[in-house]
Parts: sequence; structure tokens; C-alpha cells
Amino acid sequence: MARKKFIAGNWKMNTTPAEGIALAREIVTQAKNISDVDIAICPPYTHLAAIGEIIKDSPIKLGAQDVHWEPKGAFTGKISAAMLGAAGVTYVIIGHSEQRTYFHETDVSVNKKIKAALGGGLLPIVCIGETLEERNSGKMEGVLKTQITGGFAGIAKNDALKCTIAYEPVWAIGTGVNASPEQANQAHIFIRSIFSSLYDVQFAQAVRIQYGGSMKPDNAKQLLQQSDVDGGLIGGASLKAADFMGIVIPR
Ligand code: 13P
Repeated sequence: MARKKFIAGNWKMNTTPAEGIALAREIVTQAKNISDVDIAICPPYTHLAAIGEIIKDSPIKLGAQDVHWEPKGAFTGKISAAMLGAAGVTYVIIGHSEQRTYFHETDVSVNKKIKAALGGGLLPIVCIGETLEERNSGKMEGVLKTQITGGFAGIAKNDALKCTIAYEPVWAIGTGVNASPEQANQAHIFIRSIFSSLYDVQFAQAVRIQYGGSMKPDNAKQLLQQSDVDGGLIGGASLKAADFMGIVIPR
């Protein structure tokens, strides 16, 4: 079965609530008739409830940028899956490289967060990717394998089917240097082979794998035409409606 393309905007720590609401309104207006691509926007927490109202009758889904694994309690600064769900959130990004680099995210915490998100009815977007040093020293495949097997430890196939994978090579994030379409596709094919061993070949063919890292309107078409690239997780270019839509409908 063909995998439906899935484009998600990761706004990171950008926009005030007012700016975010304006951006969401523009995207809703421009995307209102799109049904052949799944679309999500992932604003900061403070915008979620308001943007949830704006998108609720549109094809756009709401995503959050992280979740804590505990259901509630004394965890200052954290947010639970139930809180996100109540704010209208469908998707949640887990294991982003910025979380891994700056905020001590590990494959163990990714694993706990995936379980908590699924338990709360959210659909995880699980980020993996190698650094330039890892790629240049021949470690890319090992790194991806470790991130996948650690992240998905103890997660049953039926639950894992609710996840999207985002392959985000660290060296391509925010640098303006995207992976070439061939590099992205090769990595995605390798990721499928890992999932084929972890679950089975049907799973490997069904799971959607987004590419992320300096994806822009002018390189989106070539990336999205690759056999195993099923969408994009977009940072910088998701902050302007025209750029984001230029990736949703690439020319
Ligand atoms: P950029 O598109 O800004 O490179 O960011 C990619 C990313 O990190 C999305 O999660």
C-alpha cells in the first residue's frame, strides 16, 4: 500500500502566541482543500490550545514538540501526554536532536516518552539521525540502529505502527545543507531494514519516514520524489506559510 505523504512543521522555540496564531490561520486558509497529504504543525506549548481551536475544522493536525513520560506530579517544567491530548494535540515529536544535544535526551528517555505518548493516545514522531562526525567515520548505520532499537525497546508492533520516523541528520538541521535526495533515500532504506529485523517486512514497508534538515520549497520536490521518503519534518521553512505550503505542494 502506498504511504501517504506527511509534512509536519516544527516551529521550535519561535513565534509569540499572536504570531503563531496568525501563521496557523494563514496555513489553514492555504491548506483547506488538501487531502492527499497529511499536514501537522507543532507550535510551542503556550500556543497549543488557541491554535487547536483555529485548526479544528481543517485538515491540519496539531503536534507538540516534546512530552514527559510521567502522567503527573512534581516534575517542574514538564508536560504530560494527557495535558497535550486535552489541548487538542494529535502528534508529538520525540527525541529531536536538539533535545538529545542540549537537554540530555537519551534512547532510554525516548523509549519512555514513546510509551507515555502512545498510552495517552498521541501519535509519536520519533527523530533519529547521525552527526557529521559519525557519518564521516562510518558510524551512521550503527547510530541509527542503536537509536531505533533503544527507542522502540519493548514496544509492540501494533503500537509502533502509530509512530512516524523522522530521519534528521544532525549536520543538515538549520545549516542550509540538506542531505541529497540520494543520501536521504539510502538512509531511509537502511532504516526500513532495521525495522524489518525488529518487527517484520510489512512493518518496514508501512512505517512512514520523514526527512528533516534544511528542507525548503526549492529542494522538497526532489527529496519527496524518492521512493522511501514519505514526507518532511520542517524547521525554518515552516515559519512562513508560503514556504511551508511550498513543501506541502512542491513544484
Ligand atoms: P530545519 O528545517 O530548520 O533545518 O530544521 C529541521 C528540524 O530540525 C525539524 O525538526
